[in-house]
Amino acid sequence: MTFNDPGDAPSTGAPPSEINQIVPQSARIYDYLLGGKDNYECDRAVGDALMRQLPALPVMVRAQRSFLARAVRYLIADAGVRQFLDIGTGIPAAENVHEVAQSLAPDARVLYVDNDPIVLAHARALTSSTPEGATAFIQADLRRPETILEHPLLAATLDHDLPVALMLIGILHHVRDDDDPYGLVARLVDWLPTGSYVTIAGPGSDFDPAVMSAVAASAEQSGIPYVARSHEQTLRFLDGLQLVEPGLVPIQSWRPDVEGAPDVYGWAGMARKGARAQAG
Ligand SMILES: C[S@@+](CC[C@H](N)C(=O)[O-])C[C@H]1O[C@@H](n2cnc3c(N)ncnc32)[C@H](O)[C@@H]1O
Repeated sequence: MTFNDPGDAPSTGAPPSEINQIVPQSARIYDYLLGGKDNYECDRAVGDALMRQLPALPVMVRAQRSFLARAVRYLIADAGVRQFLDIGTGIPAAENVHEVAQSLAPDARVLYVDNDPIVLAHARALTSSTPEGATAFIQADLRRPETILEHPLLAATLDHDLPVALMLIGILHHVRDDDDPYGLVARLVDWLPTGSYVTIAGPGSDFDPAVMSAVAASAEQSGIPYVARSHEQTLRFLDGLQLVEPGLVPIQSWRPDVEGAPDVYGWAGMARKGARAQAG
């Protein structure tokens, strides 16, 4: 099933909402760091401030993007997964989840979720599915998982009898501890069918604690939630699940497909929900 046949309305879960050009937003800062054009002056100012703290930040976001593609390829080719729930999608860039997945398995089905209206504005690009597969987009907030799990496009896009790959790439650091990030992930994991996978990546506080806390302070000063987490704190998101080799490792070291990728200050990992997995 597709939701993007010519003439159809974009497959989104919410009407277009206002794009604020004055308040910086993480999706647009990320776009700026990736060299994209979907950003405003306020976003570039924050991006520049973050790069003053960590000049290698563009290398890190590219490494994270490339991890996303490697993870999707692994999930399709090695794990045999055909369904994806990608939360914190971002503005479309090279190798979006459905493009990587459907190039290997045209019947792959992808539901994208992001809370930023600028991503909604790109929904048509994100929902250009193969005829055999399906893609859809919901504008919703990870901090309110029921708005994702109870959304009609979830059941319309993903078959709950089959494994789903939950992708949380570059989003969990935007959820502050007060918002109970572990509880939120546990609710999503509870919903996942047995045999599903959870993939995470995000900044690590323990690579260079002084630099990472300066980056976090700079982002927070601009109103962007930013919580870099240690290896132990990041691994906790995968509690009760079966870690896929090589475990939770620096982003560039997770099943690399090129030699000598530069070191970056972030953690990446994937885990499988077995029959007896306990979330949280
Ligand atoms: C750094 S980008 C990551 C994009 C993409 N996952 C990637 O790896 O290239 C983070 C994305 O998460 C979204 N985001 C942040 N907080 C969110 C929340 N509470 N609910 C849904 N999306 C959120 C932002 O709007 C942004 O598009």
